[in-house]
Amino acid sequence: MRPGTLQLSALPPLSLYVHLPWCLKKCPYCDFNSHERSSGELPERRYVDALLADLDAALPLIWGRSIHSIFIGGGTPSLFSPQAIDRLIGELRARLRLAPDCEITLEANPGTFEKDRFRAFRAAGVNRLSVGVQSFNDEHLHSLGRVHDSAQAIAAVLEAAEAFETFNLDLMYALPGQTPQQLEEDLAQALALAPPHLSVYHLTIEPNTYFAKFPPRIPEDDVAYAMLDRITQATAEAGLERYEVSAYAKAGHRCWHNLNYWQFGDYLGIGAGAHGKLSFAHRVVRQVRYREPRLYMENALAGRAVAQEQEVPRSELPFEFMLNALRLKAGFELRQFSERTGLPLTAIEKPLQQAQDKGLIERDLQRVWPSERGLDFLSDLQGLFLPD
Ligand SMILES: C[S@@+](CC[C@H](N)C(=O)[O-])C[C@H]1O[C@@H](n2cnc3c(N)ncnc32)[C@H](O)[C@@H]1O
Ligand code: SF4
Repeated sequence: MRPGTLQLSALPPLSLYVHLPWCLKKCPYCDFNSHERSSGELPERRYVDALLADLDAALPLIWGRSIHSIFIGGGTPSLFSPQAIDRLIGELRARLRLAPDCEITLEANPGTFEKDRFRAFRAAGVNRLSVGVQSFNDEHLHSLGRVHDSAQAIAAVLEAAEAFETFNLDLMYALPGQTPQQLEEDLAQALALAPPHLSVYHLTIEPNTYFAKFPPRIPEDDVAYAMLDRITQATAEAGLERYEVSAYAKAGHRCWHNLNYWQFGDYLGIGAGAHGKLSFAHRVVRQVRYREPRLYMENALAGRAVAQEQEVPRSELPFEFMLNALRLKAGFELRQFSERTGLPLTAIEKPLQQAQDKGLIERDLQRVWPSERGLDFLSDLQGLFLPD
């Protein structure tokens, strides 16, 4: 490999992301790389073959490194049969050195839930389930285009709690027509199910979605802020600590995989449209796979799944690091900045001082973390680290 301009003293921990791109139906707010399943069977076998060919071609980039977490995301991975997931995990284990306590998460949608399916995923080696509930209000579920109702969501979460030692529940707030009282009800129902981990996202209207074309009426910003305050308060009372902008967890149940992203760790991303970030002694590289599932399968099976690959320029590394690290309540260790970007601390001294003067961060000799105000105005804070 060509020499690069950075000096990384050590490589960060490595995770694996696996993207499964199909859903029963496309939700009107969703801009993830997800595709409505057309009639007929999913091409499970061919897709898993493509994932493995993709991984085989990428192995030389991660030679000798162990994998600390795997996240099987989508799309709706729970549309895949437990047999296909079992084969996938078995083949991953055959090719990779997994850490003994490797976290293996699978995203599941209550609309694909049937009795014993979750247990079968557990038996296949998945040890953490992430259930996409979004809301427990049938009207809101309908306006979000979800294929499940509240009763199915509750049944799915109860089954997840029985089958898995740890699980996550995804909720969204500031939904079309949602009142503060309705948010209280969603929260109360979610917390009654005692999830060890909860992710709560502010519904955003993403470009190129149905909602961008036909915008629904959503709560005003000040109402949404008040909703977030209630979420933070009610989750804390239930023993869930907010450790990242949108993530709340009981002690010992933080998501290792997402923490690794936020700490600017490495991840290999395989599957349609998957993104990856890999570090080497003198450079940090980003990769993107072909996005369209059929095109991806064709190319991956021919040993060329990567559609784009580029080295992150030195000047962009501080912003890329901060985009992740400042989402965490605990922020980052200064030492970690240098270790993960290969840059000296002087590269961020000026914007750090500006952020401190504006009251957006706090710091001591070892760490920097966002203040409460910094978390509320996160994009302003992150923006200070953009290259000149
Ligand atoms: C990749 S999705 C996959 C989960 C699964 N397919 C599902 O929808 O149940 C992960 C999570 O992102 C959140 N999400 C997706 N689109 C969003 C949007 N426009 N605004 C806020 N959160 C969003 C949802 O909570 C969703 O569960
Ligand atoms: S089920 Fe999840 S991934 Fe699929 S379209 Fe809906 S939000 Fe997007």
